[in-house]
Formats: sequence, C-alpha cells, structure tokens
Amino acid sequence: MNNHLDTVHSRFDPRARAYLDSAVHAAGADLQCARECVAGLPARPARALDLGCGAGHLAYALAPEVEQLVALDASASMLEVVRETAEGRGLHNLQVQAADVHRLPYANASFDLVATRYSAHHWSDLELAMAEARRVLRPRGHLLVIDIAAPQQALLDTHLQAIELLRDTSHVRNRSRAQWLRVLQDIGSELLLERQWPTRLQFDAWVQRMQTPQPMVEAIRRLLQGAPREVREGLQVEADCSFTAATTLWWARCPA
Ligand SMILES: C[S@@+](CC[C@H](N)C(=O)[O-])C[C@H]1O[C@@H](n2cnc3c(N)ncnc32)[C@H](O)[C@@H]1O
Repeated sequence: MNNHLDTVHSRFDPRARAYLDSAVHAAGADLQCARECVAGLPARPARALDLGCGAGHLAYALAPEVEQLVALDASASMLEVVRETAEGRGLHNLQVQAADVHRLPYANASFDLVATRYSAHHWSDLELAMAEARRVLRPRGHLLVIDIAAPQQALLDTHLQAIELLRDTSHVRNRSRAQWLRVLQDIGSELLLERQWPTRLQFDAWVQRMQTPQPMVEAIRRLLQGAPREVREGLQVEADCSFTAATTLWWARCPA
C-alpha cells in the first residue's frame, strides 16, 4: 500500500514542466514581497533553504538576495527542472536537494533562512515539518511561509478542501490563518509581517496542471455549480468555475 509521499511523487514527478510554466506559480505579489523581506535584513543570509521548491519560483526570487540557497523537494524531476533553469538564469549559488520536509538531512542551526511557498498544504504532518524547519534554523534565523490560507468559515473551508482533494490526491489541507499563527507560535517564532493577496485560479489551467481525471473534474464542477450562495460569493466562483483563494505570507524570526 502506498504512503502519502508516494502520492506526492506520483502527482508531481510527471508535472515539473507544467509548474515551471504555471502563471500562478511564476509570478505574484507574494514573490516580490518575499524578496523584499529578505533584501531588508540587516545582514545578507549566508545559507537559505526552500522547502518543497517545486519548479523553483520562490528559489529564483530569493537566490539573488542570499549567498547560497538550497532548493529542496521530494520530486527528482522538479529538481532537474530547477537545476536546468537556475543554470540558464545564471543563478550559480543555487543547489538542489532531494529530501522529505519531515526529515531534513541537515545539522541543527545550519541555515539563516528557511522559506516555503505553496507546498505546506501537501505535507502530511505540518507540525513535524515546521519543527524540522525550526531545528535547522540558527538562533534569530528567519522563516518565510507562503500558502493558500483556508477560509475561516467552516462552510467555505469544507468546499475548498473538497475541491482541492478531488483535483489532487496529494492535497492534505489548507490551514487557516489561526492554525498557521498557532504553528508559528508553537515553534517559538515571532511574527514580523503578515500579508494576503487574492489569487484567481483559472479553472481549466488549474485542473490541467495536475492532469485531474475527467470524472473528478466533473465532480468539482458539480460541487461548485451547486454550492450555496455563501460559498459562491466567498470563493468568488465564476461561470466557468474559476475561483479565488487567499495567498498568505508570514515572515517570522526565531528567538535568540
Ligand atoms: C506546488 S509545488 C511548489 C511550488 C513552488 N514552491 C513555487 O514557488 O512555485 C509543491 C511541491 O511540494 C513538494 N512536496 C510536497 N510534499 C513534500 C514533502 N513531504 N517533502 C518535500 N517536498 C514535498 C512537491 O513535490 C511539489 O514539488
């Protein structure tokens, strides 16, 4: 029987190019904000780690602001795309590492910055992965988290998680703002900045990127088209089932 990481592999390994070309992943105000957070540090980080780098868009944004950046992912084909793209862009300070975020192959306190974007909702044990992130960060190291935040209202939350899972079985859960704040607090970090932006997910591109099987695509359409008004308004569901979610960024610092 497969475990969850096998599902992550089976979903992402064949889709590295689609993630490199994805407009939602390649651009966004969150990438600019992430870069500004790092550029604004009093000292340039010597070592940075991007957890669940995917096709590398956060890594490419941060690499110019740090001495060395390790882009880490479970998927070897994502890492191959990152290696090629970084070389093509002249980002010679970027290395790749195949690993599971729940078991980081690094000594304690070996990074100045740990970042992650649009990956945490795939992690089977968020608390364990964040404890690992904290373990490899040096005292007063910085943590940057970007992910879709789950809506506060249970009705919207249930619909969002349901369509995400139907689209992609490697989806675990979008956490709410309150859950993220608790996780960041539990690892002892101090929140320095929180920002949120609406992200429109164009329906056809969203399901094609993951090659969602047709019966699942139909199920998502039915769910969204039959959803109550609160859900359709809250997720800004459009006629073609495109919808809008909340990309959220948290910038935090570990204690001394
Ligand atoms: C949507 S992509 C990330 C996008 C990317 N960070 C960006 O900025 O464009 C999600 C990535 O998380 C990775 N991932 C999911 N679970 C993981 C785990 N347990 N360990 C390592 N990588 C994981 C997947 O392999 C996938 O490449």
